[in-house]
Amino acid sequence: MLRQVTREEAAARTWLARARTEREAAAFFARLSTRLDALDAHDALVELAARASADEARHATLCVELAAKLGVATEDPAPVAPRELTTGVPDSWRALAECAALSCVTESLSTVALTAMRERAERGDVRRVLHEVLRDEIDHARLGWAYVSSVQDADAKAWLGRQLPAIVDGAVTDELFSSDEEDPRMRELEGLGCLARASRREVFVAALRDVIAPGFDACGVSTEALRAGYAWL
Ligand SMILES: [Fe+2]
Ligand SMILES: [Fe+2]
Repeated sequence: MLRQVTREEAAARTWLARARTEREAAAFFARLSTRLDALDAHDALVELAARASADEARHATLCVELAAKLGVATEDPAPVAPRELTTGVPDSWRALAECAALSCVTESLSTVALTAMRERAERGDVRRVLHEVLRDEIDHARLGWAYVSSVQDADAKAWLGRQLPAIVDGAVTDELFSSDEEDPRMRELEGLGCLARASRREVFVAALRDVIAPGFDACGVSTEALRAGYAWL
């Protein structure tokens, strides 16, 4: 007979999926650092992106270690090659869109999500990992805002504004707004660093409304297209 998966093991699966996302983020930031360097971006930003890459690799390890403590031991995920997010535009525009997607949107979403998970954490080891990762993700988001606000090219910024709906869509999964029934046990995993769909939806709304849209406005990037897609913003 099949043994029932414990609550801890179910949460560990989420942490292992997160480890793969962290690995991918490490690759994205390494490439972003190279691209910003090629564009003669400020040295501090190039350095921040390189440091972000190292942070993400460490996060992947933290996730794997925590999964093992929760009862699912595996190897660290292998490094991956980063996907290309934009094609057919000048390199400077591509770097701008990558910064917006990776740092401004994804890291801001993570920051709000990790804060919500940390509030719910019921174990010291889970809380410690969430806290360490959160501390770094705040810096990773800052890197994006600093770069986007430093860009002077008005055409590039106008183009970025038009890309924002696609960039935001790319950062969330379809499942987030699905009306399918979610496994009711997801709620029970919230103390172990997971968020049920309803909580993730709240995180998404709060991050978009309170951080991401106002952040782009403050950087001089139009959020008209973004707000048109999300009428409640
Ligand atoms: Fe991370
Ligand atoms: Fe990050």
